[in-house]
Amino acid sequence: MADSLTITDNRTGKSYEVPINDGTIKAIDLRKIKVSDDDFGLMTYDPAFLNTAACRSAITFIDGDKGILEYRGYPIEQLAEKSTYIETAYLLLYGDLPTKPQLEQWNHDITYHTILNENLKSLLDAFRYNAHPMARLISTVAALGTFYPEAKDISDNEMRQKQIQRIIAKVITIAAFNYRHRIGMPYAYPDNDLSYPGNFLNMMFRMTETKYKPNPALEHALDVLFILHADHEQNCSTAAMRSVGSSEVDPYSAVAAAAAALYGPLHGGANEAVIHMLNEIGSVAHVPDFIKRVKAGEGVKLMGFGHRVYKNYDPRAKIIKKVADEVFDVTGRNPLLDIALELERIALSDDYFVKRKLYPNVDFYSGLIYQAMAIPMEMFTVLFAIPRVSGWLAQWNEMLSDPDLKISRPRQIFTGSERRDYVDLKKRG
Ligand code: CMC
Repeated sequence: MADSLTITDNRTGKSYEVPINDGTIKAIDLRKIKVSDDDFGLMTYDPAFLNTAACRSAITFIDGDKGILEYRGYPIEQLAEKSTYIETAYLLLYGDLPTKPQLEQWNHDITYHTILNENLKSLLDAFRYNAHPMARLISTVAALGTFYPEAKDISDNEMRQKQIQRIIAKVITIAAFNYRHRIGMPYAYPDNDLSYPGNFLNMMFRMTETKYKPNPALEHALDVLFILHADHEQNCSTAAMRSVGSSEVDPYSAVAAAAAALYGPLHGGANEAVIHMLNEIGSVAHVPDFIKRVKAGEGVKLMGFGHRVYKNYDPRAKIIKKVADEVFDVTGRNPLLDIALELERIALSDDYFVKRKLYPNVDFYSGLIYQAMAIPMEMFTVLFAIPRVSGWLAQWNEMLSDPDLKISRPRQIFTGSERRDYVDLKKRG
């Protein structure tokens, strides 16, 4: 007999057999559990999806207790050491590492889509000089979709792949142009001779030189950071991508929605929040006091610590620590590093954090690296969003060919008033 669960409803004494597949039961199978014929049937209540699988996915595997992260079966440590972000994006999207000709074609397709329609620049110009780069990114990606009305045809696989290439390619241009506008610098155009991260650095930092040469160590560090951030299974922004995408909207709108979810300080906004926190702490001597405030539950969190899925050291944080050393060799040590190291040392030996299995996550050290690379703090979440675009699109592409796909539409437990009659304004107390 196949695996199954026998449930006895103590309200009625009736027993039900529910099949178990892949360690899950189908929530819809519980609907047959009723107290009467007109009963709606049993539902599950799972705010924040603590224990609900919302899809089947073959893209990213995480074992949070062991601190394992794999893209399409490849350990993140091997990809960070041997792959490039562009190759990793292909892997996430298409399931296997590309052959040499496939990689060349893919690289060419991304490189040759980095230019933005010039009309988009008037939208960028419309932002106030100090508009946050994430808010700009969200709006600009949504607006980009208006240039490609054919993107609505999401049932056409070829059309989908075209939009995927465009979005991955243009997100670095959008990010860099928004930065240049913010600081009042002329836009620096893409250079097709450069790698993906090199091109991003070029568009961010090129001054009057005719040919920008990215520092190879910084270019490589950025590539590794992009690999580490590329996907992370069903996190908040990916869930937004799938949920919004399930309405069959175009991918630009869905990516804008996912980016909005990433903007929050509990998600991708944490890398910026970590630097604010380190600045506020100010010196190693103030670390114990800060830890006391966190433990006292004064609404202060140790940003860059804790994770919904990892109950062990985030494997990405381990790799990032190594990358940080490589970057600091070039840029000089970030003075906030000592505060971060002391916070980590105390937190990892303190009962409060140990009991709750709170370890540094991907955002704890990434901000320090970006800051050392002269990337302004407000851009940090944008640097998370750039590579996560490939993860969102891989998950979206996978979702669209899932035979179980339906529009995302949760249920609720209604807690409002019972039916009542409208009261005329004059008669209200
Ligand atoms: N500092 C202090 N206490 C914490 C922290 C923290 N960073 N994170 C969790 N806790 C405590 C929390 O107060 C709770 O304690 P208690 O059981 O006494 O109520 C316990 O640990 C469990 O926390 P939770 O809020 O139930 O955990 P969650 O899975 O809902 O939240 C999280 C996960 C990442 C939102 C949370 O750990 C957090 O807010 N961390 C800080 C923000 C951060 O670094 N976010 C980046 C996440 S990694 C990048 C990404 O993928 O977005």
